[in-house]
Amino acid sequence: MTDAHAIDSLGWERRTFVPSDAFRSNALVSDHSLYDEASQDSTAFWAKQARELISWSKEWHTASEWNLPFAKWFVGGELNVSYNCLDRHVLAGRGDKVAFHFEGEPGDTRTVTYAQLLDETQRFANVLKGLGVVKGDRVNIYMPMIPEAAIAMLACARIGAAHSVVFGGFSAISLTDRINDAEAKVLITADGGWRRGEIFPLKHTADEALLGTSTITDVVVVRRGGNEITMHDGRDHWYHELMAQADPVCPPEPMDSEQLLFLLYTSGTTGKPKGIMHTSGGYLTQAAFTHKYVFDLHADTDVYWCTADVGWITGHTYIVYGPLANGATQVMYEGVPNFPGNDRMWQIVEKYGVTLFYTAPTAIRTFMKWGDHEPAKHDLSSLRLLGSVGEPINPEAWMWYHEHIGGSTCPIVDTWWQTETGAIMISPLPGVTTTKPGSATFGLPGIGTELVDESGEHVERGGGYLTLTQPWPAMLRGIWGDPDRYRETYWSRFPGRYFAGDGAKLDDDGYLWLLGRVDDVMNVSGHRISTTEVESALVSHPSVCEAAVVGALDATTGQAIIAYVTLRGGFEGDEQALRNHVAVEIGSIAKPKAIYFTPDLPKTRSGKIMRRLLRDVAEGRNLGDTSTLADASVVNELQRRAAEAPAED
Ligand code: WT7
Repeated sequence: MTDAHAIDSLGWERRTFVPSDAFRSNALVSDHSLYDEASQDSTAFWAKQARELISWSKEWHTASEWNLPFAKWFVGGELNVSYNCLDRHVLAGRGDKVAFHFEGEPGDTRTVTYAQLLDETQRFANVLKGLGVVKGDRVNIYMPMIPEAAIAMLACARIGAAHSVVFGGFSAISLTDRINDAEAKVLITADGGWRRGEIFPLKHTADEALLGTSTITDVVVVRRGGNEITMHDGRDHWYHELMAQADPVCPPEPMDSEQLLFLLYTSGTTGKPKGIMHTSGGYLTQAAFTHKYVFDLHADTDVYWCTADVGWITGHTYIVYGPLANGATQVMYEGVPNFPGNDRMWQIVEKYGVTLFYTAPTAIRTFMKWGDHEPAKHDLSSLRLLGSVGEPINPEAWMWYHEHIGGSTCPIVDTWWQTETGAIMISPLPGVTTTKPGSATFGLPGIGTELVDESGEHVERGGGYLTLTQPWPAMLRGIWGDPDRYRETYWSRFPGRYFAGDGAKLDDDGYLWLLGRVDDVMNVSGHRISTTEVESALVSHPSVCEAAVVGALDATTGQAIIAYVTLRGGFEGDEQALRNHVAVEIGSIAKPKAIYFTPDLPKTRSGKIMRRLLRDVAEGRNLGDTSTLADASVVNELQRRAAEAPAED
């Protein structure tokens, strides 16, 4: 079921890393008490965390309600998420504490304290109200990585509107689809943002997207890029103009624990992205809990930096909600890691004295490629813990991270979770867990993980499908507008369990090793892209007759998108044109790395495209049994061409 050679490549890794005495002596947790407590009664455990970490304006009456597959947490309770992230810190006298050290790509900086963040959030909440946004409405956010992105999210939370953030790299068509699916009322965007020394034109793309939507009444535009844009009278407003007139006070209205906090669209196995629904009380509890204990947050002294974009779940949970609920000080960086030089990240770590650093394996492998001398140019001794997320981290990358970034002393937390889980599920606790490079180790306290085989039977050792056996506070509450798809996607493959879509292996010590997706979902640089979506994009091009897309192992990006395309009669194959077409349809993150034109696709005699076989071809594996193929010569030809393909740069 899973990659034979993914298992092999992990097979040799035997090193273990015990938390150092120095780290343990100052760690929030250095024994098994949290695990013990949670294993006695996980609902009571989460209820205790909810009381300790979150401020409620009204107590809940029932900690957890479970009508499979629909969960509710802290039922009857009321809270305001933005109050938890802002007001309570200011009220406790920490208004001058830095929330964000913002570093723009061109080198401009801004220090945003909790008091300032609260002030801007209140004003912007009033701006939204002034535009007619009310509790329960949806607001779309399409922004660069600037503090206003967080402010926009928090302002929505303050008034009970659900935000739907769309990553700035997505195309106009993708934005249109997400706005339409959510029936969003207001769009918040910027003129443009900085990326690799240039402006990427968000407003321009948003204008194009809005041609295909009918629900957006108003657009708020933050000035960031300074690029030329068109403002549409009556519809478009400058952020700074509205803010200058906004009432500075917007009291945090209490919200039901199950109030919809946000939608975040992610790819599934069909062509249509799913609007994952997250609510308030349970989500914030697990976001705060995991951020505190997985990163061993000492809010008074730590400087935390998560390199994700707010357009992804990692940015939601580990830049906005978790860290702010915990009153952390963090770095927010706008741009790419190699501008102006390949040492930009390490320069920022040194400049702000970053202590906790959270990034993705694909970034780590890129840093490895750029060379040991880049981090060596900087004093990284402030770092005391490193995190990894988004895909399996290979032991080589883990070791490089450990030695060249962590100075061979920082513990590494390899954190497994998903857009759907809302928060970290599997990870070491850095003061407790002995780590093994490449293993995410164990389920966190209060999380039930289990591997099962094809028929749903428990797997004690070896490979299997990763399932979650009990509801957790930050779990998705459904797919926006599609409860059947929710049930079908996550809860039907193994009745009674949540199926994550990942394969995993349990070693002799009971450590979990994640092995990647087992469905038609690719993981490219930690971003989830469905094969079907890319295929639909390709076949929407006039020259394409049929397309099959596979994710092939890639040394830097984890997986790379490889497409096999048959053309309509009379058309020439133009690889560049098709790659651009996919960028327009979905976004540049979904551009195939290679496109092979072929007179035919390998199919079974019943006409089903054999994607597995195409993956074998793309990954240069020897093909097993091809006897079910309708026409084996197609594959032989593709194999010959794959072998001839130029080596990667
Ligand atoms: C998929 C979820 C969670 C935020 C980023 C991605 C893969 C994620 C790990 C990890 C192995 C991982 C899984 C998962 N994944 N973290 N530490 N080790 N695989 O969120 O887009 O919802 O993707 O990312 O395959 O199912 P996402």
